[in-house]
Amino acid sequence: MRTPMVVANWKMHGRLAEARELTQAVRDGLKRPRGVEVALCPPFTALGAVAEILTGSPLLLGAQNCHWEDTGAFTGEVSPAMLADLGCRLVIIGHSERRHIFRETDEEIRRKVAAALRHRLQPVLCVGETAEERRQGLTFTVVEGQLRAGLGGLGAEDLARCTVAYEPVWAIGTGLNATPGQAAEVHGYLRGLLSELASKEVAQSVRILYGGSVKPDNVGPLAQEPEIDGALVGGASLQAASFITIAKKSAAKSGASKE
Ligand code: PGA
Repeated sequence: MRTPMVVANWKMHGRLAEARELTQAVRDGLKRPRGVEVALCPPFTALGAVAEILTGSPLLLGAQNCHWEDTGAFTGEVSPAMLADLGCRLVIIGHSERRHIFRETDEEIRRKVAAALRHRLQPVLCVGETAEERRQGLTFTVVEGQLRAGLGGLGAEDLARCTVAYEPVWAIGTGLNATPGQAAEVHGYLRGLLSELASKEVAQSVRILYGGSVKPDNVGPLAQEPEIDGALVGGASLQAASFITIAKKSAAKSGASKE
């Protein structure tokens, strides 16, 4: 029912020449990915160039953030309408760097999710606890709050078009990934909440990706967890070879879907 997905989050990396080179190499290495969907999320400035190279390829284009309005006096912001115009199919929303460095609130994130859906973009809603919150036993409370704030109130049809990414903050960029068991436990909890918000059926159809120090040598056991439906990859997505390996290792066996 769920085809795994691997999303490259390039963050603030990639001038045009680098972005073109990386995209071309990933495209060449993943001509017809089987059993996995693959998306590249370059910085805004490279979206046009990456879109050109991805023309005719099954690889999807995504963005790392968006505003919630279509147009207006919002200096420095980019709207989901503009992203859709460029050929984006998805947008990462509520990444922990947005929440923590740029102080994005749950309410802003909720509005961004709704705006993305209005423009037929697939929101990839990120949730995750800090190291301190985990130490205090607050992991489930934190991710539940973020999930309910981001997706609560959506109709079942809209909810079914969302993707969730569980990204423990302590695992992002640290080289310290969650174990498959730790991730699966949270994914299972999130899926239970999705059932409550919509229905069991919808919850079974929503992909829950894992993110945080995903590398070629740790993705295998993560991908084998039935509750983990792919990966959101930061650092390792900046090297074509490592990203291609991660995508291939994340593919469902013999093209089958999860569940
Ligand atoms: P990382 O980043 O793979 O470098 O840990 C993941 C992310 O921030 O999405």
